[in-house]
Amino acid sequence: MMFKLLFSVFATLSCILFAKALEVDTYDFLMPNVWPHRDELYLCTPIRISPHNNYYIVGFEPNATMHTAHHMLLYGCSEPGSNESVWSCGEMHRNEVDDLYNTASPCRSGSQIVYAWARDAPSLHLPKDVGFLIGKDSPIKYLVLQVHYMHRFPEDKVDNSGVFLKYTKERMLRQAGVILLGTGGTIPPNRVEQMETACTITEDKVIHPFAYRTHTHALGKLVTGYVVRQDDNGDVWTLLGKKDPQLPQMFYPVVSSRAIQRHDVLAARCTMNNTHDYPVRIGATNKDEMCNFYLMYWVENDTPLERKYCFTSGPPYYYWDRAREGLNNIPPAFV
Ligand SMILES: *[C@@H]1O[C@H](CO)[C@@H](O)[C@H](O)[C@H]1NC(C)=O
Ligand SMILES: *[C@@H]1O[C@H](CO)[C@@H](O)[C@H](O)[C@H]1NC(C)=O
Ligand SMILES: *[C@@H]1O[C@H](CO)[C@@H](O)[C@H](O)[C@H]1NC(C)=O
Repeated sequence: MMFKLLFSVFATLSCILFAKALEVDTYDFLMPNVWPHRDELYLCTPIRISPHNNYYIVGFEPNATMHTAHHMLLYGCSEPGSNESVWSCGEMHRNEVDDLYNTASPCRSGSQIVYAWARDAPSLHLPKDVGFLIGKDSPIKYLVLQVHYMHRFPEDKVDNSGVFLKYTKERMLRQAGVILLGTGGTIPPNRVEQMETACTITEDKVIHPFAYRTHTHALGKLVTGYVVRQDDNGDVWTLLGKKDPQLPQMFYPVVSSRAIQRHDVLAARCTMNNTHDYPVRIGATNKDEMCNFYLMYWVENDTPLERKYCFTSGPPYYYWDRAREGLNNIPPAFV
């Protein structure tokens, strides 16, 4: 009896003491001493993931300040946009000849967003047992870091903005994924405008949302994301997240983490207030606008959604009440 008790105490203790800690390493994914030689420059730098191993990213620690970097995005790619160590990768400058860096998109194929940062957002650590799979069994063969530099640097200054990646080689049961919802479109002068997007999940997967992030430029007032369950008695809209995009644009925990399934609709809306007396378009520079809602989720013993993006043409062409999905019970703006 005594022996049994002792043994069980010992067993419990050893479980606590010797529970295998996750072996986590850090990779410094930083710009290699780049010189932003003009305003509004987007630069990209790649890393090739060993195709012989699986790695799981479990955390992102940003190394940047908003004075220098307007935003940073981490893309997962099957092929990078360029084979150079640094290239110019701004969407608006695709046909522009840059005298210092060659121009290409972040990814040549298989583009998806893994992480995003702006406005001095703090580190992001994924929930227990959740990781982004990269390498051997993942379509992500390269990671590409994109930094949007707002201003030209002085002649003698270079930059090392980037992200410290926390990763492990141990298999995670739950793979993380991101779907980016957004719009194109134009905001008329002196108007409050709704920029809306929606997409039906068509893949037979169960996704568990856990974090969301919003992104607009200066005119964004509120960004909301929903999951809509379509029902004969009327659509049921469940809030995933709602944020003033002028606050730090970090990943926040979702409001509802209920599982999302096939036939559910993901929807996002940006309420924009154009205080200028000229129209403002969606575009890449700081003078343009953006309407983005990122949803981060995990899947268990499965691969993330193949669909990585959910975009509509935005105003004046697209609103929820004209959606193909036939949405009803649409929530009023400002809730
Ligand atoms: C990023 O980290 C490096 C050292 O790892 C440091 O020298 C550099 O100043 C940092 N850059 C920024 C923008 O914080
Ligand atoms: C990079 O190099 C590989 C191998 O030489 C080539 O197949 C690929 O097309 C190149 N990619 C780009 C974007 O130039
Ligand atoms: C939009 O901006 C104008 C001018 O600053 C302001 O008067 C108005 O209250 C704003 N509307 C909203 C909905 O934020």
